[in-house]
Parts: sequence; structure tokens; C-alpha cells
Amino acid sequence: MEIIPSKKMSLYKPAIFSELKRFATKQQQENGMEIIDLSLGSPDMPPHEILREHLSKLSLLPSSYGYTLSASNQFKEAVARYYKRVNEVDLDPYTEVIQTIGSQEGLVHLPVAFCDPGDIVLTTNPSYVAYDAGIKLAGATSYYIPLDAQRGFVPNLNAIPEEIAKKAKLLIINMPGNPVPATPSLEYFSEVVNFAKKFNIIVLHDAAYSEFYFTGERPITFLAAPGAKEVGMEINSLSKSFSLAGTRVAYIVGNAEMIKVFAQLKSNLDFGIFDPIQSTAALALDHAEEITEDLRFTFSERHRVLTKGLVDLGWDVAPSTGGMFVWAKYPYEIDSVTFAYKAIEQVGVIMVPGTEFGTEGEGYVRLALVQPVELLEKALKKLRSISI
Ligand SMILES: Cc1ncc(COP(=O)(O)O)c(C=O)c1O
Repeated sequence: MEIIPSKKMSLYKPAIFSELKRFATKQQQENGMEIIDLSLGSPDMPPHEILREHLSKLSLLPSSYGYTLSASNQFKEAVARYYKRVNEVDLDPYTEVIQTIGSQEGLVHLPVAFCDPGDIVLTTNPSYVAYDAGIKLAGATSYYIPLDAQRGFVPNLNAIPEEIAKKAKLLIINMPGNPVPATPSLEYFSEVVNFAKKFNIIVLHDAAYSEFYFTGERPITFLAAPGAKEVGMEINSLSKSFSLAGTRVAYIVGNAEMIKVFAQLKSNLDFGIFDPIQSTAALALDHAEEITEDLRFTFSERHRVLTKGLVDLGWDVAPSTGGMFVWAKYPYEIDSVTFAYKAIEQVGVIMVPGTEFGTEGEGYVRLALVQPVELLEKALKKLRSISI
């Protein structure tokens, strides 16, 4: 039988993560090289014990295994309480909250609900890869706002040509971001609201790293900007903030009408998340302050060590006050994909080439803070001995 993928499949290339990993495993097997993996942003610490206990207890109940279809009221109310407590934002849990199967699922499906082929979606270069995946699924066209080091990597809305803004349907932004951990401000988000109103553009702010901040000051939520709920939504996840990546639970909050449209699409796509996971997520949100403090401290310490070490090596590190990554320009005249493979071959450190996130990532690599400080120090020692 001849298997012919759809034309659309030509838009989806294999992700580089598994290629890098395969190459590293080969080095390990052939040369006995120790590998330090700083590529995937998957939290290395386990979820808090109360969450693991709760999940296992509920998983034993025979009644836990039916379709849930959508979010439980318990989950939606916990999201609303969490936003009120930590962000001072009021949400109607029944109309302004929707659950997604990890934020990845929300990100790739949301453009389908709002964009037609030919519509423009504004996103950034570099940006998290799922945005493009969703835009392609909807048949829409990406317009990339370059992230400029001079502006602290904050997307410059004024640089978007008016004819592009007029055709745009959706704007996706992400702060603190992946791969670039820029810091959001109320002034900036207010500018985003005004821009969205002027051009009738739906805004989606990805706040996946909202609990990882290093300054004592929580990154502001998009919904705190006056008028934000009129123009958009925020997507947030329990994957990073609560080390629950494998349970696949996240949510979108904001404009009730937009959420209703997305709920209609989702009712055709999936049957909801395992009830014990929903309940564990609600418990996590209700105990966010206790649970996230240790994780925040750990990531903050790792960020400090890795940033200082790279700067000492002569790398140019993007300043950041939060997130889970270090975005750094290496001091060699070599493209980022070749550099990433050389780093594995010569010293066994896996980093993601900046161009994986867009052309503006050339000359950069992304390092995930997913190893303990001792291993980060070891990785820095190894990186010192790279010869290009
Ligand atoms: C910015 C950003 N958004 C969303 C996600 C997806 O996370 P999840 O689907 O686990 O919620 C990631 C994962 O790395 C991310 O970096």
C-alpha cells in the first residue's frame, strides 16, 4: 500500500529535540561521554507530595474512570480563586475559564476556532514552536514580530505595518517567554490592549512560566491590564509551575465569548481530562503559594549560577527576571545548529539551537534550567573547553 501524507504534513518537520538526543546517545555509547541535557523544558523535580498522594488516592476509586467531557466546577472554581489570590483578577469560573489538555493542546487548537485560511496571526520570532503549529493547522499565515535585544526582547507593536495589523486576527505573546524570558509590564500590556482594540485583534497571552520569577515580584498577568478581558485571554499551565507536565492539565481564562467559541470546538475534539488529574490540579492551585516557593527558589538559584557562569565564559546572556530558560549568544562565528551539534560532540552538553525557535535565534542557544546546580557547574566547565 502506498501511504501518502496530506499536503499539510509538508508543513510539519520533525522537532530537533529527538535528533539532538539521538546524536548525544550515540556519543555516549561510542565514546563513553557523559551527557548533560539542557534541552527539553520538562521540570526535573517531582510534584509536591500532597499532589501525588491525592492523585493516587483518587485513582484507586472505581468511580474515577468515566469521561469527564470538560472541566469540573471544582477545577474552574480553583482557577478563579487562584487568579483572585495571586493576581487580584476576578474571573467568573463558569464562563471565563476553560480547561485544556496541557497548554500545548490549547495553543495548537485555538487558532482553528478563530482563523480562516489567509488570516494573519501575529507572533514573535523567536517564539515557542506550538504557536506556529496551531497557525498552520488553521491554515492561517504567521507574521513574525522580531524580538530585539535592544528592546529587552519585548515585541514592538509599533513596528508592525498597518496593512498587516488590519488583516491580523490573533496576536500570541509570551512573557516571561520561551525561549526568551522577557519581563512583562502593565504599561506594555496596556499598549497591547489598545493595539488589539484599534485593529480588532484577539490577544492570547501565554503565561506558562508565571510562577518562576527571580526578583520577589510576580510577573504581571495580561488580565490585569485595563480592558484586557474585552480583547483576549491568557493561557496558563500546571506543567511547569507545579511540576505536573506529564498529567497534561492547563487552562485558558478571559473573554467569555471567546471561551464559548473555543469550548464549542473542543466539544468536538476531546472528552476531557481524567477526573483525579482535574482534582489534583485544583488542589495544586489552592496550595500554590506553599508548593511553588521551593520550585521558584531552585530555578532562581540555577538561573543565577548558569547566567554568571556563561557571562564569565564571554557569552552574552539575555537579562531576565523569570522563566525556565537561559537565552544566550555564544562567542563563536558559527551557526546555531552546527554549534549545538559540536557542543554535544566535543563536551556532551545538549542545548537547543536558537534557530529552532525562528530565524532571529541565529547565534543563540537555549539552555533549560532542568539540572541541579552541581550539574550546571559541570556543564559550564565542559563548555569552557569547547574549541571552534
Ligand atoms: C511557552 C510555553 N507554552 C506552552 C508550553 C506547553 O506546555 P504544556 O503543554 O505542558 O502546558 C510550553 C512547553 O514547553 C512552553 O514553553
